[in-house]
Amino acid sequence: MLQLSVIATRMLAIVILTAAAAGASAFAPGTEAEIRERIAPFGQLRVLATEDEGDTAVAVQREPRNPEAIYNQFCLTCHQSGVAGAPLMTADAWAPRIAQGIDTLYATTINGKGAMPPGGTCFDCTEEELKKTVDWMVESVQ
Ligand code: HEC
Repeated sequence: MLQLSVIATRMLAIVILTAAAAGASAFAPGTEAEIRERIAPFGQLRVLATEDEGDTAVAVQREPRNPEAIYNQFCLTCHQSGVAGAPLMTADAWAPRIAQGIDTLYATTINGKGAMPPGGTCFDCTEEELKKTVDWMVESVQ
């Protein structure tokens, strides 16, 4: 009788362990590709040699950011409220700006103008990101 209950207990343990193992597989870490994607670094740092040998410049390589995200993070502060005479996001406010030509808008955004600091306070934005953000702003007000 004792023997029987030991066997029954062991069988129960096996059933529980099997069920636990089956449950655990629901939280499997995924394929190797999925794991690599999850733990991939956000950006890569590459040290670039400049024309002047021996001198080096550091460039951060990362995916370009979304223009709307850049606008919301950096530009909205002034352009939503008109701080310091920043053109509000309306067609009327932007018409004379747009009339200057897109290249002027790119240049003033990159270099700054009046109360607007260079890069519109996005100091780590690339020129490409700033241009895309200007495009996005111009499209948004039309
Ligand atoms: C600190 C406030 C401030 C922030 C932040 C800011 N701007 Fe401006 N922006 C201004 C002001 C003020 C002007 C008007 C400058 C003038 O005409 O003297 C302006 C003008 C502009 C113009 C028109 C330039 C022209 O030549 O007429 C563009 C384009 C522009 N901003 C884009 C941006 C973008 C893109 C960002 C974010 C990356 C940004 N701004 C962030 C204050 C700001």
